[in-house]
Formats: sequence, structure tokens, C-alpha cells
Amino acid sequence: MNTSGSLVCVGTGMMLGAHISPRSRSYIEHADVVFAAVSDPVVELWLQEMHRDVRSLQPLYSEGKSRHDTYREMVDLMLSELRGGKKVCGAFYGHPGVFAYAPHRVIELARAEGFVAHMEPGISAEDCLYADLGIDPGRVGCQHYEASQFMFYRRQIDTSAYLVLWQVGIAGDRSFRRYATGSAYRQLLVELLTEYYPPHHEVIIYEAATLPISKPRMQKLALSALIDTELFLQSTMVLPPCQPLARNDAMLLRIEELDRVLNSNLPATPKHQ
Ligand SMILES: C[S@@+](CC[C@H](N)C(=O)[O-])C[C@H]1O[C@@H](n2cnc3c(N)ncnc32)[C@H](O)[C@@H]1O
Repeated sequence: MNTSGSLVCVGTGMMLGAHISPRSRSYIEHADVVFAAVSDPVVELWLQEMHRDVRSLQPLYSEGKSRHDTYREMVDLMLSELRGGKKVCGAFYGHPGVFAYAPHRVIELARAEGFVAHMEPGISAEDCLYADLGIDPGRVGCQHYEASQFMFYRRQIDTSAYLVLWQVGIAGDRSFRRYATGSAYRQLLVELLTEYYPPHHEVIIYEAATLPISKPRMQKLALSALIDTELFLQSTMVLPPCQPLARNDAMLLRIEELDRVLNSNLPATPKHQ
């Protein structure tokens, strides 16, 4: 097979024109064909300024159609140009590898067929969230789950770390066909979360700004109020910790003993870490 084609999936970032890396821009400019899965038609217009052959993947989505089918079609479209020997660029909003199936899948399949394929990172909703909400994921730790998966499977939640739920606007959708679920589904999510958090626990609904002129949504509310809150496809939910970090005294003691054996100059373990 002719494997002269190549594939790159790039991230365009969250904010129109402001977040793209020079490398991602260069891959777009130098591709033979660009496939675009971006959040807004204005972003497509901006991409068209960088390349004359930008093909939108957005029409592949439609209410009632399984997103699995949509993703498969995206992958097939990119692969077919690749097999034709083209330099293919998939431009995805945010980071192409964060909560995004098609970019990972198309790279995997392209490599299996012997093509050169890779991913260029982008600024994701997660990056904007840390900046806007002033959260450092390294301070007490941070867990990320897709909201429906969080409901469908049993997880071990650490309530002394942040919890971030993605796609909360379609929480509980088993069909992969809907673009919104409703308060009855959210009620179940709240019931699940209140096994770990008090109902009055303050949570945040976050939506990063996607235009330089707009402001992020950073709405604080009680967990129980989630049921009647307006949520969209672009909404992400943040639950700050409700417990302090619990020291692992047994492990700290073992480390202290090890330190004593290996380096007698080290100080004793700080008591308030
Ligand atoms: C399919 S994922 C795509 C994420 C994207 N690849 C990224 O890097 O951010 C869609 C989910 O990302 C989050 N998301 C997308 N746009 C967002 C925005 N403007 N603000 C906050 N979260 C957003 C929401 O949780 C949404 O349901």
C-alpha cells in the first residue's frame, strides 16, 4: 500500500484565534486537506483563512444519531484521504486528545496501516478551568470523569481532592444520541454525589470563554441546586474537596525510618504536611 500520506490531529484551543500553538497552525497551513471539528462556525471561518480546503465535520452530528456513528464517519473520512496519499490534518477544538474519541482512534488506525501519524496538543477546557477558577490540580489532586460514565460505573471517589465531571449536560445519556438530558437525570447524579458530599456543598458550573469578547461562566451553587440549573453541552462541573487530606501516618513513619537508615542528616517528618 502507498503510505506516502501523513496524519496529524491538532488542537485549536478554546478561544477563537488566541490559543493555537505555532506548530498546530503550521500543520494546518501545510496540509493538503484539513478536517475541522470545532465548536463554532466562526472558528471554521478562521481556519479557512489558514487553508483553502477546510472540510467541516460538524454536519456529521445530528440529534437522534449515535455519536458512535458520527465518530466512525469522522475517522473514515480522514483515513480515506490519507490512503490517497494526502497530508491530512484534523483540527479539533481544545486539546484533540482530551475527552475526544476520533483523534485517538484515527491516529491508532493510521499507524496500524503504516502511516506516520501524531497528535499536537492544544489548550483544553481543563487548562482554562485551572486558570479561571484558580485551581492547581497538584495542590490536593484532581479527578476527572465523564459524567455519564461516572454514573454507569462504580468509582472510588477521593473527597479530599477536586472532582471534575465532563459532559454534565448529557449526564445519564445511555443512547449516545442526545444533546441534553434533563433534571430527572441530574436528580440521579445528585443522589449519587450526595453519597460522598453534603447536599449544600458548593459546586461550580464552568464554561470557558470561546470568544475574546466573552466571559467564562463560573457559577457557584449548592450541589442540590444542580437539578434545576441550566446546563449546556459545553458545561463542566467542578466539585471542590469536602474533606481535608488524611495523613498516612504508617507510611510517613516507614519513610522516616528509611531516611534515618539511608541519611542520618535528614530532619524528622514535618508534623503538619
Ligand atoms: C467532547 S469533550 C471535548 C473536550 C475538548 N477536547 C477539550 O480539550 O476541552 C466536550 C466536553 O468538554 C467540556 N467543554 C467543552 N467546551 C467547554 C467550555 N467552553 N468550557 C468548559 N468546558 C467545556 C464539557 O465538559 C463538554 O461536555
